Amino acid sequence: MNESILALREELAQAQRICVMTGAGISAESGIPTFRGSSGLWRNHNPAELATREAFTRNPALVWEFYNWRRTLIAAARPNPGHEALARLEARTPQTTLMTQNVDGLHRLAGNTSVLQLHGNIWETRCTGCGRVQEQRTPDLGSNPRCEKCGAALRPNVVWFGESLNEELLGKAFAAASTCEIMLTIGTSAVVQPAASLAGTAKRAGAVVAEINLERTPNSLFMDYVILGKAGEILPQLVP
Ligand code: OAD
Ligand code: ZN
Repeated sequence: MNESILALREELAQAQRICVMTGAGISAESGIPTFRGSSGLWRNHNPAELATREAFTRNPALVWEFYNWRRTLIAAARPNPGHEALARLEARTPQTTLMTQNVDGLHRLAGNTSVLQLHGNIWETRCTGCGRVQEQRTPDLGSNPRCEKCGAALRPNVVWFGESLNEELLGKAFAAASTCEIMLTIGTSAVVQPAASLAGTAKRAGAVVAEINLERTPNSLFMDYVILGKAGEILPQLVP
């Protein structure tokens, strides 16, 4: 085992208050494609450009087809050893706050009980007319799902570019980042705000900050640990 993994493992074992921020990279080994980088295009479209309000306004059917495809993949996906290690971390250190940019629900499926889903939940729809939020487990909702109550178009209940995050969740995330002893950020390109800035908040408040990712990110510069590799291989070593 490499020395920085060993050292971080020791720090995690001693810590009482831990924060974890995850992004699409932690679910990549469960078969869910990430938004940026090498995982490629969906029908010639850049996935990060479909998860936007502009795309939904321009072409709701296309955005729904993209989400139906993701919902179908996610329905078949299972938590991987990276998710499982984070569930062990929470079980062992109760003051662990897991915040995620992922909408797939795999952290809860792995057993984490307190998860701040900053970017929403792909299994919910929200009515663009009356605002009703509903859980909808059928993976493919067709290209033009409508509200049963008011007939307006439904959208996925996720946060897109140009939209604000839920204030209460964000408040909890910043409070946890400001008071933790260690913050891990895992599988995120760290380019989407405000999620990307939580690690800097933790660092300024005196926490040890660590990044586990396939590649370096804009946040790598101020990290105490940068561990390059697959989350599903590194996390089980950090939380045996
Ligand atoms: P990205 O797709 O931007 O970044 C994924 C990161 O994970 C990259 O830096 C990869 O190198 C890394 N990665 C890939 N496989 C990995 C593995 N097996 N182990 C470790 N790291 C791995 O995803 P996010 O940062 O999550 O928003 O993207 C942020 C937001 O942008 C998403 O939540 C999404 C998108 O717009 C919404 O849909 C609301
Ligand atoms: Zn409605």
